[in-house]
Amino acid sequence: MTNPKPTSFIIYFFYFTLSLPSSLSSSTSPADIAALRAFKAAVKPSSIPPTSCLATWNFSTDPCAVPRITHFTCGITCSNNRVVQLTLDSQGYSGTLTPLVSQLTHLINLDIGDNAFHGPIPSFTSLPNLKTLILRVNSFYGPFPASISALASLQTLDLSRNALSGPLPNLNSLTGLTRLDLSYNKLTGPLPKLPPNLNELALKSNSLSGSLTTFTGLTRLMVIELSENSFTGTLQPSLFLLPSLQQLDLAKNNFRNVVVSNPNPNTELVAVDLSYNAIEGPLPANFSEYPMLRSLALSHNRFRGPIPWQYSKKGSPLRRLYLDGNYLNGSPPAGLFSGEGAVSGSLGDNCLQRCPVNSGLCLKSQKPASICQQAYGGKPKS
Ligand SMILES: *[C@@H]1O[C@H](CO)[C@@H](O)[C@H](O)[C@H]1NC(C)=O
Ligand SMILES: *[C@@H]1O[C@H](CO)[C@@H](O)[C@H](O)[C@H]1NC(C)=O
Repeated sequence: MTNPKPTSFIIYFFYFTLSLPSSLSSSTSPADIAALRAFKAAVKPSSIPPTSCLATWNFSTDPCAVPRITHFTCGITCSNNRVVQLTLDSQGYSGTLTPLVSQLTHLINLDIGDNAFHGPIPSFTSLPNLKTLILRVNSFYGPFPASISALASLQTLDLSRNALSGPLPNLNSLTGLTRLDLSYNKLTGPLPKLPPNLNELALKSNSLSGSLTTFTGLTRLMVIELSENSFTGTLQPSLFLLPSLQQLDLAKNNFRNVVVSNPNPNTELVAVDLSYNAIEGPLPANFSEYPMLRSLALSHNRFRGPIPWQYSKKGSPLRRLYLDGNYLNGSPPAGLFSGEGAVSGSLGDNCLQRCPVNSGLCLKSQKPASICQQAYGGKPKS
């Protein structure tokens, strides 16, 4: 007599309506919740603006629960109830980084860059999936944690613009790492063994020292940025022959010599900056053989002798040439000022004769004759 249909419809309706929130919610791994709680607790509350990501972290709901309407609206991403991404907005969050991040064992990306975190970087012991670690532009200090060299999946490591100090451990176990940026810290000691598949190495503005001997086998290295350190010794031909190298910046170090051989046929070197070192000897003419080399900066060294005519030879790819602040003598090759070999840059502050004053290259005047005579043992070559 009674039609069962409406009843069951109502039952189903209630069943689905009531179960909807719980079917969409989830229960985040307790270890992850504890780590997120500790993470937020280590940030100074006064540095958490009301409109920021971290302000929405309210543990009265489950962090991985969706939809996120009021709580945990940003900053984390979950997969199968595990936190896989912790990427904070740049809000000036100030605090320390809790060692409990090591409990986020499914983490793939950790990015808390451009904030005001300080203290030591904790040891990351068990983050086997971590691909991206970005702590750039904070105030972390203390040593570079040796535990980082055990992060087997790491691809990008950016700790630039902090205050890390002390030597670097060997990093050749990081076989997946393609981008390493530790620029603008206070690191000391020699260059360690490097990750074998690196594309980009940036260690600008530290206090690293010793000679550059560790580049053999780095066949994918495209960018080397080691300016503003205390490296010394001789730059060997092998450095310029790295098969993928495009940009080499070694300015503002203490290099004493450079030896450049002829390039390999497929060399990709586009820009070399060796300015502000203490390199002696003649200018390396072989640079003109590098078919892609458009920018060459050798300013402020102790180079002597004439500018090689090859620098302006027919077909030379050089377009920017910075040679100012050396002891170069003779007449600069006429081709530098007109025609196919014409370049921009600077030749001033040398001992050159007949640098055409109407050329931008010669805007800056040459050294006083007395200094040049002294540099050439009182017998200036002409
Ligand atoms: C978390 O959210 C609940 C409910 O929305 C609220 O009552 C509580 O004050 C919040 N806690 C914090 C620390 O914001
Ligand atoms: C230029 O390269 C050749 C061949 O690689 C080498 O024999 C020669 O010594 C180099 N020239 C200089 C001045 O280093």
